[in-house]
Amino acid sequence: MRPGNLLRYDQTLFRDPEVFEFTFVPELLHHRDAQVRELACLLRPALRGAGPGSAVLRGPPGTGKTTTVRRLFADIEDATKKLVPVYVNCQYDRTPLAVYRCIFERLSGYAPPSTGRHLDDLKRGIAVRLRNEDAGLVVCLDDANYLAAAGRLNTLLYQILRLYEKWDVRKAGVLAVSSDLTLNLAAEVDERVRSVFHPTEVNFLPYTKAEVREILAERIRQGLYPGVMPPPLLDRIAGIAAEERDIRVGIDLVRLAVLRAEEDGRRRVDPVDVTGAVRAIVAPVLRTRAAGLSEGERALACRIAERSREGADMTSGAVFEAAKEYLPVGKTTYHEHLKRLAEAGIVDLVPGTGRGREREVVLRYDPDEVAAVCARPDRSG
Ligand SMILES: Nc1ncnc2c1ncn2[C@@H]1O[C@H](COP(=O)(O)OP(=O)(O)OP(=O)(O)O)[C@@H](O)[C@H]1O
Ligand SMILES: [Mg+2]
Repeated sequence: MRPGNLLRYDQTLFRDPEVFEFTFVPELLHHRDAQVRELACLLRPALRGAGPGSAVLRGPPGTGKTTTVRRLFADIEDATKKLVPVYVNCQYDRTPLAVYRCIFERLSGYAPPSTGRHLDDLKRGIAVRLRNEDAGLVVCLDDANYLAAAGRLNTLLYQILRLYEKWDVRKAGVLAVSSDLTLNLAAEVDERVRSVFHPTEVNFLPYTKAEVREILAERIRQGLYPGVMPPPLLDRIAGIAAEERDIRVGIDLVRLAVLRAEEDGRRRVDPVDVTGAVRAIVAPVLRTRAAGLSEGERALACRIAERSREGADMTSGAVFEAAKEYLPVGKTTYHEHLKRLAEAGIVDLVPGTGRGREREVVLRYDPDEVAAVCARPDRSG
């Protein structure tokens, strides 16, 4: 490295570090057109003086549920006063009082006094404002699975959706968001809620590698100076994040890799920065997954990593033929090992188009990482 390339202590590779914060709401939302369209369609009646519809938004963590709602709500705020969107994070605001305080604050522009506010006073205050503005209300209950867990989902939905009965306002809409796929929010509600809550289900699937790449590329354009992140390294990061099925992993990998380059006084991210960032983020997860594996299973994982790195044939039969030259395993044991690796979340076994049991063995992690973790089980750093 030439001294001229060294960054001065006050120089940074980040044009805008905030872009890599998880709370950042991007201007451009890629690959969520279908969901945005569906939600906009539900809310549109509110612009014509009717009540907005309701929805349940479902998808695993890091699939853009919160961001989609935030973006949509920001657009509604810019476009109209006929519909007031209120975002509530139920991880923090779980009681009816807390939720109504959020709605009140959004409508009036100031927080209600912290004491002496009865729930009914808050509701009246909200209703008066909605009536004065002739506006509809849509409330997003983000991470509503916390409400369900706290046993408060029914009460809250009931109160919000039936606000109109007592206070002579339009029926409100609710967007209930959940990342707990074992929980069916629409089925959790009891009968009195069900009669007013007919949510459309809007699903959020994990992003594909190409989608992750595009989303990260946009972040990089905004957040870094040109040329800091070489495209092949972005590719590698996108692959890892797609395998992890969580775009947050990708955003964090970019941020950490750039920080490493910055600390080292370079203007460009190197492969070693990405490897370091992967170690810091992904390796702990991988180590936990590998912890319960037997020696034979680890050895097989290493062979799979090697073949995957070489770009060799990854059908389960071909992997077996290659592995048996190195490992003392028969076909039955081999298939048991493979099944264990899949259960541990280290490989996916993808059914092929061929005969019978033949599967494509797809590594879920960077081969170098798998080899490093599985070859040295006691490695702690
Ligand atoms: N389509 C997208 N375009 C740009 N950025 C996105 C997109 N989807 C997600 N992100 C970014 O990924 C991160 C995670 O997204 P988000 O918080 O919306 O996920 P989520 O589905 O709400 O996850 P959780 O269930 O854990 O709350 C955020 O930093 C967000 O900005
Ligand atoms: Mg979220």
